[in-house]
Amino acid sequence: MEISTSVLNVKEENAIQTFYNLEIAHTDYYHIDVMDGKFVDNNTEDLMREYSDNLKNITTIPLDVHLMVEDVKKYVDIFAPTNPKNISFHIEKNNKSELRNKEEVLELIKYIKEQNCMVSIAINPETNIESIYEFLPYIHNVLIMSVHPGKGGQKFIEDTIEKIKQLSKYIKDNNLENEIEVDGGINNENIEKIKESGANIAVVGSYVINSKDYKYTINKLKYGE
Ligand code: DX5
Ligand code: ZN
Repeated sequence: MEISTSVLNVKEENAIQTFYNLEIAHTDYYHIDVMDGKFVDNNTEDLMREYSDNLKNITTIPLDVHLMVEDVKKYVDIFAPTNPKNISFHIEKNNKSELRNKEEVLELIKYIKEQNCMVSIAINPETNIESIYEFLPYIHNVLIMSVHPGKGGQKFIEDTIEKIKQLSKYIKDNNLENEIEVDGGINNENIEKIKESGANIAVVGSYVINSKDYKYTINKLKYGE
């Protein structure tokens, strides 16, 4: 299980020290939560720009960019220059959870690949997992939201476990190779069942950032007690 640490709730005053401590603690990725103030209420564009520029200069650990935005191309153009390993965009096109049409999704996948990034489709808790099946052969990851996007520190939605199992089975049955990343409310108590359900990457924000010893916490998440 890999850990992608969300830097959303990192305090600006000691961001550089925090990034350094996360590197020492062997986070597998830095998860960059980009919010546009439309797809979700919060707007984190400036802060996440600043953080990814900092990270690009101080670390070789890959960036994992999660776009919670309506206008995906606009934000791909902003964040692609920080050379993320992976960019996720939502299958939902707005805060009413209406879905993007097939043509748009295929175009966005191609657009992200042209920036030499891996492509991931993110899916909200209330959206059926079947809605992304047709795109699996063209993408690398699926980012399953286990909270409603918009802020850190929320409670893990238990129904997510069934969703991970269903997707994991579909991937196996169809000889696909997508990775499953799960995002929101993950901690020491629920990571084991998330792993057992078939997920490969866990996005963890507040549980790591609010802990005293990042190395101990990340180790515990990766390998158990
Ligand atoms: C939610 C974000 C998540 C979140 C994770 O909108 O996409 O990445 O910040 O943070 P925790 O682990 O605190 O739920
Ligand atoms: Zn996220």
